Parts: sequence; C-alpha cells; structure tokens
Amino acid sequence: MEFIVCYDIKIFNSINNLSLYFANLLMNEVKEEDKFNLVLSGGRTPKDIFQYLSAHYKTKINWNKIKFFWGDERCVPPTDDRSNYKMAFDTLLCKVKIPDSNIFRIMGENDPVEEANRYSNVIKTNVQIKNNVPRFDLIMLGLGEDGHTASIFTDQINLFEDNKICSVAVHPASLQKRITLTGKVINHAKTIVFIATGKSKSKIISEVIDNKTNLKKYPASFIIPKNGKLIWLLDQQSASLLKVN
Ligand code: 6PG
Repeated sequence: MEFIVCYDIKIFNSINNLSLYFANLLMNEVKEEDKFNLVLSGGRTPKDIFQYLSAHYKTKINWNKIKFFWGDERCVPPTDDRSNYKMAFDTLLCKVKIPDSNIFRIMGENDPVEEANRYSNVIKTNVQIKNNVPRFDLIMLGLGEDGHTASIFTDQINLFEDNKICSVAVHPASLQKRITLTGKVINHAKTIVFIATGKSKSKIISEVIDNKTNLKKYPASFIIPKNGKLIWLLDQQSASLLKVN
C-alpha cells in the first residue's frame, strides 16, 4: 500500500537555531490554547533545547498552561542520571516556573507493568480523548541510530498496533525495561516534532526519510500522524545524506 507521508523538514546550521525554531513553535502553539499537553522526549538530543528554553524563554512562554508528560522513560529512579525526567528537570523544569501539579512524571522506580497502567490512567484523566485515543498537543520524538523512537524498538513494532496507551518495552541491547507511549497515541497527536542532530544520525535519517523501500522497517517510519502534522528538525550533519536536502 502506497503511503503519502506529509511532513515538513527543517534543516538548521546550528543547534542554537534549531532550538530557537522549536522554542518559537512551542510558544506560538501554546498561545493558541487555554491549556497545552506537551510530551517530552528523552535521550541526549533534547538537552540543548531544554537549556535554550530555560535560558531564553522563561518569560516568553506561559508555562502555567503546559502539562508535561514523557513519551518514554527508563525504569530507573528519578535521581538516576539515565532518567529522562531527571534530564528534563535539571535543564528545564527546575529553571522555569511550573506548578508541580503540571508535571506528570513516569515513575521509573515502580514495577513496570503497574507503572504502564498507572501512567495510562494519568493520561486518560488529564488529556483530551478523541476517537477513543488521547490527543496530545505536541509530542517531541528523538530518533535512535537503529530507527527506534520513544521506546518503540525495531523488534517491538507491534507497539504500533497496541490499543493500550502505555506499554512496557525492553531495550534490545541493554535489556533495560522502559515505559513507552504506544504508536497509536503518538500518531494521534496534533503536532509531532522529530528532532535528530549529529553525523551519527545521518544514515538513519536518510533511510527513514529518503529510502522508501525500507518504509516499514523502522519504528520511526511508522510515525504517520492521523490528523496532525509532522515536522522534522535536523541539523546539517544529520541531514547530510538526505536526497531531499
Ligand atoms: C530515550 C529516548 C529515545 C531517544 C533516542 C535518541 O529514552 O532514549 O526517548 O527514543 O530519543 O534514542 O537518543 P539521543 O537523543 O540520545 O541520540
């Protein structure tokens, strides 16, 4: 079946300019809403963006409107340096005025199955449900060199068919347990922003965006917003092998 994946690709000459673009996108989308449900991605890539937001957008964004969620979390305590929550807290959440009641952390210290259920209920309670699926306003996604996104790995593509809101996943190399949003929830968002930077991502970016024959090989290729928009934010290094570039 042919897919026409509609997305917008922005290529920046610096992380600073990519961060500025993201900050303005977030600021303008938050302005449109009374309340805003935002999903943060994990890993290293968003760190620069969070630091940019806390340095330059402390007063430009009405942070009180935003409820913070995570697309995935490692099953570790929030004090662990591998925690996606800890990274976001250290670089953003502790630096801008956000009511604690607006921060919905995935509790990586809990039993994974119980936490996936608990977090699914938290989302059901706090996020608008449309067509029986929670609809986030904006979901940030990172991209692994193996084509995974959130914690949907290449051997767990079934998480795109899963009717649950959150599921337990396992990192195929480290066997680390993760909690992840399922593909249906991700694809139901109003705006999905894929962010990938650095030379190490250039091959997978080209595979996912240019190489249609592999369309269904990578989890990232399954990110096709149902009734929303998909924006790729790249830098010149990660976009260096792109044909569309
Ligand atoms: C995680 C992420 C994961 C990440 C990619 C890219 O918990 O690790 O959610 O999907 O976004 O692996 O990670 P980097 O930004 O560190 O390259």
